Amino acid sequence: MKGKLKKVTLLSGDGIGPEISKEAEKLLSIISKEFNYPIQIIKKDFGGVAIDKTGNPLPEDTLETCKKSDAVLLAAIGGPKYDNLPRDKRPETGLLGLREGLKTFANLRPIVVFKSLIDSSTIKKEVIEGTDLIVIRELTGGIYFGKPKGIETRDGEKVGFNTMVYKESEIKRIAKVAFEIAGKRRKKVTSIDKANVLDVSQLWRDTVIKVSKDYPDITLEHLYVDNASMQLIKNPKEFDVILAGNLFGDILSDEAAMLTGSIGMLPSASIGDGSMPAIYEPVHGSAPDIAGKGLANPIAMILSAAMMFKYSFNEEKIHDHIFKSVKDILEKGYRTKDIMQDGRKLVSTKEMGDLLCKALTLNLSCKESII
Ligand code: IPM
Ligand code: MG
Repeated sequence: MKGKLKKVTLLSGDGIGPEISKEAEKLLSIISKEFNYPIQIIKKDFGGVAIDKTGNPLPEDTLETCKKSDAVLLAAIGGPKYDNLPRDKRPETGLLGLREGLKTFANLRPIVVFKSLIDSSTIKKEVIEGTDLIVIRELTGGIYFGKPKGIETRDGEKVGFNTMVYKESEIKRIAKVAFEIAGKRRKKVTSIDKANVLDVSQLWRDTVIKVSKDYPDITLEHLYVDNASMQLIKNPKEFDVILAGNLFGDILSDEAAMLTGSIGMLPSASIGDGSMPAIYEPVHGSAPDIAGKGLANPIAMILSAAMMFKYSFNEEKIHDHIFKSVKDILEKGYRTKDIMQDGRKLVSTKEMGDLLCKALTLNLSCKESII
């Protein structure tokens, strides 16, 4: 299967980022070896660690290296140390800059409930069993980037404001991504808005309806964001593809994450029009409270690497192998602390990484599992 060398920029970032990155690196080296698939990993500073060294969360050299690579694998950024810095110097601003710089307008967040983890969710088993949905979140527009924005004094009083703005072209391109993905799934798109109140949402709804005309075999439904957040908990199985703007998608994807039991399980892909590399990152944050203690769950990071094979390298088989290894290890009862249940085997970040690597090697050689 030897192909052209793939350059992957690895941004380990802050908090638990370096620990989970290490485990992903181990897995990548196994894939490289077993599939004879050359991968070069280039490590760059990003987020808090970059602020400490350069004062800038997204140094020029980091962005340029990302642009020149085939994919970007990002762990997590941020921490309390940086919370009081001016906004343009915060790790989160670096993340928005990276998304904007690589024009990754579509954020894909698959939410799959693993059977073996059904009891770790706070939601009843019969409600979440069989849930398999994907949130398609617009990532480079909306209120995150809209202008005007700021805090100023008006009539002697401070006023804070942001602008939720979408161009028709921005809505069209993200809607197309959602319909295309729905075509390969259960053929249903639920578009989220607040069209009963917001003009920007009315344009969102009208434009999504227009795009849907090109996809006659896909069922389209619209939900107001408040109702959607309720339906997601009440009947998650009803959803296939959830299409949402930047802010609504951010909020709903965290809610959807909890259906699976732990946000530590969820990967994501941020893709553009293909002219620049995509970004793969866990949905969870840098969890500074547990950093360096071996407690972090590396699964979201490893599944993000799996998504990289599927979406950037067109290697669905490798994606499926990694996914299966995760499933196997969970079925065997191994758990990091965030997904621990009675009677299961508690393992550290490193042990979980080692187990996944072993499972992957075994799956690849099709041997009987001996773990
Ligand atoms: C996410 C995060 C980010 C966002 C933060 C860290 C800027 O919450 O990726 O969901 O709001 O997009
Ligand atoms: Mg978020």
